[in-house]
Amino acid sequence: MPSDHARGTLGDAKAAVDVRTTSTIGLALSLGLGGCAWDAPMSTVAARSDVAREILHVYAIITWIAVGIALVVGIALAWVVVRFRSRPGAPGMPAQIRGHTLLEISWTIAPAIVLLVIAIPTIQVIFRTQAAPPRDALQVRVLGHQWWWEFRYPALEVVTANELHVPAGRPVALTLDGPDVIHSFWVPMLGGKRDVVPGRQNRLTFTAETAGEYRGQCAEFCGVSHANMAMRVVVDAPDAFARWVAAQKAEPGEPAPGPAADGKAIFARSACVGCHTIRGVSSGALGPDLTTFGSRRTLAAGILPITVETVTAWLKNPPALKPDAKMPALGLTDEQARAVATYLIGLK
Ligand code: CUA
Repeated sequence: MPSDHARGTLGDAKAAVDVRTTSTIGLALSLGLGGCAWDAPMSTVAARSDVAREILHVYAIITWIAVGIALVVGIALAWVVVRFRSRPGAPGMPAQIRGHTLLEISWTIAPAIVLLVIAIPTIQVIFRTQAAPPRDALQVRVLGHQWWWEFRYPALEVVTANELHVPAGRPVALTLDGPDVIHSFWVPMLGGKRDVVPGRQNRLTFTAETAGEYRGQCAEFCGVSHANMAMRVVVDAPDAFARWVAAQKAEPGEPAPGPAADGKAIFARSACVGCHTIRGVSSGALGPDLTTFGSRRTLAAGILPITVETVTAWLKNPPALKPDAKMPALGLTDEQARAVATYLIGLK
């Protein structure tokens, strides 16, 4: 017979375990559910293109089948646990079954049927989403670089970086490759991931449904700043897209006298010109084309908004903002960096 003291200690230990279990479950739930949101910018269940809808269709079929199977298995398990629980006077060992042909056949056929049901819509969607792009599709070449995105529109003679503009309602045919390592193009609301493999041309064709801004991210580990390789797809109404194209093709005007003009002079005589193109000023090809830098909303592959302060800080020391950035600190003074930032932001 345990003493009152021993019983008290046991009770305390049990309470401590209960508290620990409850807090662990609470923490796991809050961490798990904390990742959920209805209006997340990179939601895979909010489809805004034909391809995203196709993928969501397969995803929904698989999810509902999995929910059904989980319910059947869970209910069967609960029933077995309750029905065959240990009871006083119950026989120790239940009857053993060996070589039950009907059971063996049924648990082989049942999963095969599940896989078949999943395979049919999956294969249909693979063929539909891999079909050759229609002739009127807007062709865009996507290049994944460490760690930024380049978008080239061969027919429009437009080159931009990190922000892909496309018209709503018109098929867009992306051809993806890159000069360095494997990246993956992923804009969840517009389509599934497509690897960007050096030396190989992958394709992704989609038609965006409604105007808006959609966030994307490199989805294949590609080095130190993989997480800093974001992008935006701006879906424009057709007339807004035509205006954007016209603005991209326009020759950059002369900067106003003052900091912007000083910035242009500093840009033109510094190492910037070795890597960056600004039409009429320089023709470097290693970094993003900056001809219409000021028309973009973000800097350094989507990690910072474009303001005089952020661009100045970037010019002073890029690797401080983006680890291992290929652009080195150029040794500009605060005043010089600010002048170049003012010049670049004025390029629209
Ligand atoms: Cu590019 Cu990860």
